[in-house]
Amino acid sequence: MNILAPSILAADFAVLGEQIRTVDEAGAQYIHIDVMDGIFVPSISYGMPVIKSLRKVTDKVFDVHLMIEKPERYISAFADCGADSITFHIEATDKADEVLEDIHCRGLKAGISVKPDTPVEVLRPYLDRLDMILVMTVEPGFGGQSYLDFCTGKVEEARKMADGTGRSIDVQVDGGITLGNVETALHAGANVIVTGSAVFRGDIAANTRAFLEKLQYAP
Ligand code: DX5
Ligand code: ZN
Repeated sequence: MNILAPSILAADFAVLGEQIRTVDEAGAQYIHIDVMDGIFVPSISYGMPVIKSLRKVTDKVFDVHLMIEKPERYISAFADCGADSITFHIEATDKADEVLEDIHCRGLKAGISVKPDTPVEVLRPYLDRLDMILVMTVEPGFGGQSYLDFCTGKVEEARKMADGTGRSIDVQVDGGITLGNVETALHAGANVIVTGSAVFRGDIAANTRAFLEKLQYAP
């Protein structure tokens, strides 16, 4: 099943709850929450207290994307504030096994992400425990960048790796996804689509519905 995960990084934080309600009511299945620490990526976004407050606004899946160094320090904190799924970067830790175990012990789904220059092959040792592979299609750190075309091949590879396990592993794409290129990502094998600017700029409900329509008719 294809899933839409609007990234609230592109929302208007003055009316964040309201905008989340809009994507929720328009049918988005996940809420993608980008956490940035100013070290793994240059920006600082938001953290646990914001997520905890947002938990009151919607029951949709909170898909937390950690762009932080040493995510092992914070898994319990993000679990406690209401994450349903936690994705961390393989480049940010040398304790990936431990992090996966910690996420699963708390009953949450676990994903690992690769930056554009990191081969998806590095995730092979974790495939037996992964729920989701996140292929970044821009350099992490900022919304509103353009999709990097060379990453489409990585999405195809991730899909092959995922299917090769015989388990159900989601392949997520994140960065520069628009109504114009979402089909490329879907055809390459992505089934969880993150999109920030293309949803939150303009008519949020209409944008959400337009994405959902494309997701419905894709493979
Ligand atoms: C980038 C974030 C993305 C970003 C996507 O580091 O992980 O989730 O918000 O935003 P757009 O869709 O605008 O590229
Ligand atoms: Zn993200």
